[in-house]
Amino acid sequence: MRAVVYHGPGKKSWDEVEDPAVQEDTDAVVRVDTVTICGTDLHILKGDVPAVTDGRVLGHEAVGTVTEVGSGVKNVLPGDRVLVSCISACGRCRFCRESRYGQCLGGGGWILGHRIDGTQAELVRVPFADNSTYPIPEQVTDEQVLMIADILPTGYEVGVLNGGVRPGDTVAVVGAGPIGLAAILTAKLFSPSQVIAIDLADSRLEAARRFGADLTVNNREPDPVARIHELTGGLGVDVAMEAVGVPDTFTLCTRLVRPGGRIANIGVHGTPATLDLQDLWIKDITITTGLVDTYSTPTLLRLLAAGQLDAARFVTHRFALDEMMAAYDTFARANETSALKVVLSRG
Ligand SMILES: NC(=O)c1ccc[n+]([C@@H]2O[C@H](COP(=O)([O-])OP(=O)(O)OC[C@H]3O[C@@H](n4cnc5c(N)ncnc54)[C@H](O)[C@@H]3O)[C@@H](O)[C@H]2O)c1
Ligand SMILES: [Zn+2]
Ligand SMILES: [Zn+2]
Repeated sequence: MRAVVYHGPGKKSWDEVEDPAVQEDTDAVVRVDTVTICGTDLHILKGDVPAVTDGRVLGHEAVGTVTEVGSGVKNVLPGDRVLVSCISACGRCRFCRESRYGQCLGGGGWILGHRIDGTQAELVRVPFADNSTYPIPEQVTDEQVLMIADILPTGYEVGVLNGGVRPGDTVAVVGAGPIGLAAILTAKLFSPSQVIAIDLADSRLEAARRFGADLTVNNREPDPVARIHELTGGLGVDVAMEAVGVPDTFTLCTRLVRPGGRIANIGVHGTPATLDLQDLWIKDITITTGLVDTYSTPTLLRLLAAGQLDAARFVTHRFALDEMMAAYDTFARANETSALKVVLSRG
């Protein structure tokens, strides 16, 4: 088969590699019908994720058709159309029993395109298939479901649910990439009174308005904090979500939040950020962090099937499966191409 193979920092190619096969009786092999690229794949290509080594097939999001299952797999059969989630779950360890699949101790967690070969390929081996794949309701399209492999559960679980968004809340989302936009879209499920998006790129702020933001603030403005306090009656927001992953935007969140408010960090941070406890100790702030667990996948699938979540709107560019290198190029130049999610489909 063909697959996107990582060959060290800055190097990837669409190579001919051996077809995957069932190795454990809990595995399934899935023919990839629709697949996408994540910002995390770009981090890997920069060399930021050393666990990914030369020869690894990239990708952790897909929709496909099961071709083969191990003897222990009960929930899916060859021929089934399934979502392959970015998080795999052994289903047995302490954390899986608490629905914290991201922290799985039994060999799951984020493994696809990281510790084992991933989904940017014609076929993918999915471990713990009963817990790591989801049969897809008929009325939803592959493209819609693909957005549930990573970005929607991340924005919803780590942003909206960790942030405890409630009806009437004012919500600030710092960073309006696919993850911040997913947080905006799913925050709206709780009827906040006001969603404010903050980004540096006007094109992303425009996207944020399309996804439901009521107000946008460019972080290049002279005093974005003052502006947001002005927009919230001088108090600050009830919930601030960090969806960038740099120290400055985390600090910004701590300045945007009202006393008693909540900060939900979603961004992946590579360097230390300052926590101004000398100012914050008195403000009754709650700060949460998290890796996506994908425990919300069944909920999100039901919302999709009921037409309550417009997931397809993330898709800005479409390619054939073998146009993988062109798709990477378009996605990596999001500033020029305005790409949010690029989707590759089997012809
Ligand atoms: N916690 C998790 O489980 C999880 C899962 C997936 C992704 N992530 C992380 O979420 C973050 C966002 O992911 P994404 O794919 O949307 O990334 P992205 O790079 O597409 O989007 C980031 C956005 O932040 C904006 N930005 C950059 N610097 C800024 C600043 N100083 N002020 C305001 N805006 C700024 C950019 O213009 C861009 O629109 C990343 O750190 C990613 O690694 C976390
Ligand atoms: Zn991802
Ligand atoms: Zn587990």
